[in-house]
Amino acid sequence: MGLEDKETTNSSPEANMRKAIRILAKTPTALAAFYRSRKGKKILKPKKNLNIAENFFYMCFGKVPQKEIVKAFDVSLILYAEHSFNVSTFTARTITSSLSDIHGAITGAIASLKGPLHGGANEEVMHMMNKIKKPENAFKWINDTLDKKEVVMGFGHRVYKSGDSRVPTMRKYFAKVAKIKKDKKFEKIYDIVEKVMIERKNIYPNVDYPTGPTYHLMGFDTDFFTPIFVVSRITGWSAHIMEQHAANKLIRPLASYKGNKHRKVLQLNQR
Ligand code: COA
Repeated sequence: MGLEDKETTNSSPEANMRKAIRILAKTPTALAAFYRSRKGKKILKPKKNLNIAENFFYMCFGKVPQKEIVKAFDVSLILYAEHSFNVSTFTARTITSSLSDIHGAITGAIASLKGPLHGGANEEVMHMMNKIKKPENAFKWINDTLDKKEVVMGFGHRVYKSGDSRVPTMRKYFAKVAKIKKDKKFEKIYDIVEKVMIERKNIYPNVDYPTGPTYHLMGFDTDFFTPIFVVSRITGWSAHIMEQHAANKLIRPLASYKGNKHRKVLQLNQR
């Protein structure tokens, strides 16, 4: 997109806004095209009378589901849209601070979002639920995992130490989707794992915990969960990039060296 955009090198506030809107519009369309083409299905163009959430369903599946499902997806996009100085936003800010452009900054932000400690966690949650398989296995699985001192994806947060404020809302929509799909298995697993995590570790779920199984129940392939997060977070990244461009200072942290003060170096001919 950066190579094709005629305004790539113009980082004025007006051009940045136009580019942000283009990136926000094109990314879900490109993603849905990939979704269909890898399944051997015809690519569908977005429809003008549908909103972003409805269009994404339409372009992936060829139809728009019930209102409640669309609403749950829309809510997840809103919850994911912006979240201050998380890793990917900080990455976007840092890239922008060298006066790089919005396409470069968003590309870098995507690379950092895909890591399992950040946006990639929603996919990892689904892999975990698939490993657990059924509610009867959940209690033993989570206790064994904690005994082995392993990290449980979808739990914990650098900032929220007593619960992620986005979770109650997403949990509610997860329940609504599970009810419509008549599939309570993942909710049961969800509750057991959450209870043990809080009781044993005092660690609460983050928003990736409910979004993972919700997207699965909506019918999305697991490797699309983090790209969906990208579609939403483009708004937050763009706002930060525009703010950085508007009052830029190069971001350049200092590192303090803690190693040996003096080290002897052997000349090459003495090695
Ligand atoms: N599962 C198991 N233990 C966890 C944990 C988790 N998800 N998150 C934190 N802990 C443990 C740590 O191992 C550490 O234990 P210790 O004191 O015995 O070493 C303790 O809780 C404190 O954690 P800390 O490393 O200070 O948390 P952090 O702020 O550095 O980490 C995350 C925050 C998000 C990186 C971390 O919670 C994590 O890796 N979560 C899973 C990935 C995830 O869901 N990411 C999406 C975030 S929105």
